[in-house]
Amino acid sequence: MDMKPVPVREGNYNVQDAEGLRQGFDWEDVKKEFSWYKTGKVNMAYEAIDRHAEDPDKKDKTALLYSAPDREESVTFDQLRKRSNQFANILKKQDMKKGDRIFLFMPRSPEFYASFFGILKIGAIAGPLFEAFMEQAVRDRLEDSEARMLITTPELLERVPVDQLPDLEKIVLVGAENVDVENYIDFDKEMEKVSEDFDIEWVDLEDGMLLHYTSGSTGKPKGVYHVHHAMIQHYATGEWVIDLKEDDIYWCTADPGWVTGTSYGIFAPWLHGVTNVIRGGRFTPDAWYGTLEKYKVTIWYTAPTALRKLVSAGKDVVDQYDLSNLRHVMSVGEPLNPEVITWALEVMDLRIHDTWWMTETGAMLIVNLPCMDIRPGSMGKPIPGVVAAIVDNEGNELTPNQMGNLAIKEGWPSMMRAIWNNPGKFESYFINGWYVSGDSAYMDEDGYFWFQGRLDDVINTSGERVGPFEVESKLIEHPAVAEAGVIGKPDPERGEIIKAFITLNDGHEASEELLEDIRKFVKNGLSAHAAPREIEIKDTIPKTRSGKIMRRLLKSWELGLPTGDTSTLEE
Ligand code: PRX
Repeated sequence: MDMKPVPVREGNYNVQDAEGLRQGFDWEDVKKEFSWYKTGKVNMAYEAIDRHAEDPDKKDKTALLYSAPDREESVTFDQLRKRSNQFANILKKQDMKKGDRIFLFMPRSPEFYASFFGILKIGAIAGPLFEAFMEQAVRDRLEDSEARMLITTPELLERVPVDQLPDLEKIVLVGAENVDVENYIDFDKEMEKVSEDFDIEWVDLEDGMLLHYTSGSTGKPKGVYHVHHAMIQHYATGEWVIDLKEDDIYWCTADPGWVTGTSYGIFAPWLHGVTNVIRGGRFTPDAWYGTLEKYKVTIWYTAPTALRKLVSAGKDVVDQYDLSNLRHVMSVGEPLNPEVITWALEVMDLRIHDTWWMTETGAMLIVNLPCMDIRPGSMGKPIPGVVAAIVDNEGNELTPNQMGNLAIKEGWPSMMRAIWNNPGKFESYFINGWYVSGDSAYMDEDGYFWFQGRLDDVINTSGERVGPFEVESKLIEHPAVAEAGVIGKPDPERGEIIKAFITLNDGHEASEELLEDIRKFVKNGLSAHAAPREIEIKDTIPKTRSGKIMRRLLKSWELGLPTGDTSTLEE
């Protein structure tokens, strides 16, 4: 769509001149912002929490403004330092060590953040799991990572198949008041017993910090492995793109089970010592606006699905709230519709800054800086220190306006360092020195990047990445389902919805009840966001002669498009 650019806003932003920032830029210079540059002692937890807690002017500053329907709490940097120290002591007492994988499966809460930093403080690798995951999703991740410990709640423990996980030695239960916790470690009781002092385990910049599981088009979810080095990029983008300053009140809506919820829900704001609003629970436009108003949020990082919901709720709803503190809004995870940008300008007098990146990239790569004109529909330009291009399948650069693979020159600080237990998969991302994203895009003459779609079958539903193979595997576990093929179907609000095509086993009759039962089966096995919203029964599922499901063909049928090359189709 051709729309007029949205010009730079006058304002006191951190970065005044994008081209100036890019000239002569060197990541080495960002390192000077960290205390380890002088001391040689590295740990993300120190930089994000303890460093501020040791500063007399900052120690009593609110780090976390927590809000849930039944609980409100504010936690200072010093309190977070002490609580994460306590948790680190619990981990030591339980013989947890540097490099161990320790997973968190619980809703956002102050305990989550204390545990998370406790894990980093002992040099272990944190694995946050989205709280809506069901049994199979939880098992796949704990199994693959060989996690030794899990921190969870009594309610969520029901979804953890403990007896099928031989590596899982210890479970910490948070909020276990009325539960028989004989075999478990009680978070509250243990916290009382241990010291508030802890000697942080100093690590190497290249030591492991985080495992985020994410979906591809084949196989089970993969463990994307990130190291402490990533903090350089979290810090820099926090300054340039999020525009964080001392007195900001920042809110990122993402759950820490997804990469946005760690890189920008935890690291970037706290590396800058900024007050961070953490809000659990479900959302409605009133809950969003209410949170922005109540906490006087100045900077908001959210997703197109949320913004589209606000647009459909209409101007009347916005007008009921005082959003006068909000000065900067960003979006990530899915294409940001130009209409949403226009709407926000009109109704809230704010520009929405799109950002593009992935679980694998660890931090933002292509962005709209506050000092750049926004071209509605474009993801913006690469940040300083990052080279992006459109390449062909051999990794050769294409010229402006040619469509191809969106690729990034290897070696930015927050890049994943491995796929857990899967070196082959890791290698497969790289061609000719480029990290190839799997997104198709083009670059215009002025260097703005424009997203076009995914090149593989990965589905993006409400900003959540779902692998069709996982859903298909779950579907065929249902007694009535013989075969299944799963695609993303375009949807005006959610970007895509999951649509499943199935064939039935003999003796099963199609009915509304059966379809509902199949949907619930996936929901209860994997998670609500992975359950197909539409299921269609077919006589056969198209496959190649080698037995691969032809999702491309299913999609063409669904969209009424030409079916293209079907020469590999099985009879
Ligand atoms: O297809 C792109 C889409 O989300 C994918 C990455 O998903 P995930 O690893 O879950 O990380 C999401 C948040 C960092 C990408 O391959 N995506 C991400 N940002 C955008 C986007 N699509 C269009 N525009 C964006 N700004």
